[in-house]
Amino acid sequence: MTMVLEPKTTIVIFGISGDLAKRKLIPSIYNLYNKGKLSKHFAVVGIGRREWTNEIIREMVCNTITDIFGNTTSDMTDFCEHFYYLTFDVTSDYSYSNLHTLLKELEEKYKIPENRINYLAMAPEFFGTIASKLKENGLTNTNGWTRLVIEKPFGHDLRSAQQLNREIREAFSEEEIYRIDHYLGKEMVQNIEVIRFANVLFEPLWNNRYISNVQITSSETLGVEERGGYYETSGALRDMVQNHILQMVSLLAMDPPIRLTTDEIRSEKIKVLRALRHISVNNVDSYFVRGQYDEGKVNGKVVPRYRNENKVDPSSNTETFVAGKIFIDNHRWAGVPFYIRTGKRLSFKSTKIVVQFKELPMNLYFHDNEVGHPNLLIIHIQPDEGITLMLNGKKIGPSGETTPVQLDYSNNSIDSFNTPEAYERLLHDCMLGDATNFTHWDEVELSWKFIDSISTAWEETRGNFPNYKAGTMGPNESEYLLEKDGFRWWLFSTNENE
Ligand code: BG6
Repeated sequence: MTMVLEPKTTIVIFGISGDLAKRKLIPSIYNLYNKGKLSKHFAVVGIGRREWTNEIIREMVCNTITDIFGNTTSDMTDFCEHFYYLTFDVTSDYSYSNLHTLLKELEEKYKIPENRINYLAMAPEFFGTIASKLKENGLTNTNGWTRLVIEKPFGHDLRSAQQLNREIREAFSEEEIYRIDHYLGKEMVQNIEVIRFANVLFEPLWNNRYISNVQITSSETLGVEERGGYYETSGALRDMVQNHILQMVSLLAMDPPIRLTTDEIRSEKIKVLRALRHISVNNVDSYFVRGQYDEGKVNGKVVPRYRNENKVDPSSNTETFVAGKIFIDNHRWAGVPFYIRTGKRLSFKSTKIVVQFKELPMNLYFHDNEVGHPNLLIIHIQPDEGITLMLNGKKIGPSGETTPVQLDYSNNSIDSFNTPEAYERLLHDCMLGDATNFTHWDEVELSWKFIDSISTAWEETRGNFPNYKAGTMGPNESEYLLEKDGFRWWLFSTNENE
């Protein structure tokens, strides 16, 4: 495919007044514009139910940009002029016909060759309706290209995901669908492949002969904020594990693709997901642990228990923490546990991967009563971005003792909560027609297949909740999960190994 560096496109954002549009999409479009990655031939049509006007949306865009970036340059007015608004009823053909007319006008005005991105940044129950109405009303039939960007949640379980997929596939082909997983836009998540496949140091060791276990932690200090309603139907398993965490697992475990093309990379990731060991409903407790936060102190401030949050059932059975042990039953990974954990209201905000290497069979430098430090490769995803390699060296001086040596490489992370950059990248990729960092349907389907038995088990029985204090690293069972295998989580406080 020929890559055009400054794509010409209209972007239709369904749900422009929502949180996602304000926090991520508008700032990302602005950054692309500012960095010259978006040509002047673009227009954004904001869609919403409110009776807004072009003037209102432009003011909203300007305020959003100023709030985020401070007072910016003089081309702000010019940028905001590219935004249009349409009051919309997603079930009415009349609205789609208005949209069609507006798109034609804008394509003429900005000399855009009928390239259209439809970005669904709204409640998922409307995804299917919007996709089919776009088609029925002729909006997908263009002389350029047309793409559908879909936010999570992509379904609630395997069945609903399949149903949703059937609906959107009636209107868009798989190549036209861009399922966003914003973790795939993060700098250091994209770096996983480079670290693995561009370093002779790692790839030969990247298997069950040399790696004892892999740990992925994605911890948050935030609670559920204003999203109690959504979170009650989701929980940490669906919110984080089904998508972000399993995507990181597949990038860490995949075989080298034969070429760096979208299809080849996806096909290797899919193989990993196919090899995930299925956990039966009766056996979930041996592999997975759930938690829900109680009142506690986060960053010195007392915060309420989950059950007292807004729009949360006071006897909620929803998990706000998950830890689990995943096995990939293939030649490369047989017997190597991938431990994962994620949760809300934990002691610090951090996403990290730790690869623990096996110890040498006869380490000459440790005596019978000494414990060595295993070699670790730590990939810091956020807020700090970088790599740490833990080796062993000799303590300076005559004693001859060994000591862990830490080699650090750190990216200068631009922003500690760097999701706008992830969105910026992904939006740009979508404009360029590069779907590598989006989730293919097969990946979504396989992830739900894996997750479903765990969520079924947890729906059938009540958790012993709340079982961890806000501001800690989750329930004790999360520690036992590793201890019973002779391991430990390597990162339990902000200071360790950082
Ligand atoms: C989202 C989840 O997908 O990811 C949120 O819905 C979560 O609940 C967020 O807070 C975490 O993203 P990040 O980039 O802050 O790690």
